[in-house]
Amino acid sequence: MADFVRAMAAAELAPGRCAEVMVAGKPVAIYNVDGTFFATSNVCLHRGGPLGQGLLDGRHVMCPWHAWTWDVATGENAANPELKIPAYEVKVEDGQVLVRLD
Ligand code: FES
Repeated sequence: MADFVRAMAAAELAPGRCAEVMVAGKPVAIYNVDGTFFATSNVCLHRGGPLGQGLLDGRHVMCPWHAWTWDVATGENAANPELKIPAYEVKVEDGQVLVRLD
């Protein structure tokens, strides 16, 4: 199983915001849902939109390109849960957001 890798400082991402970062060479979206951090692939399954630039509403992020919406905790599409993007395990240590990509 992969190790946790630093994605960003927790203080860089306010509650209700998301960001895109490269983690170990992969584009990852990081979300701060009321102080709890989540991570998914940054790549929307529809046409590859950057989810880290999307609009976060509670646990759901809306893709900035065509508004497909994803649960950031599970990676499931809000309209069709059979569609899933990778959702990654996250922990915060010493003020750093760490992500396990597998
Ligand atoms: S690329 Fe995300 S909704 Fe189209």
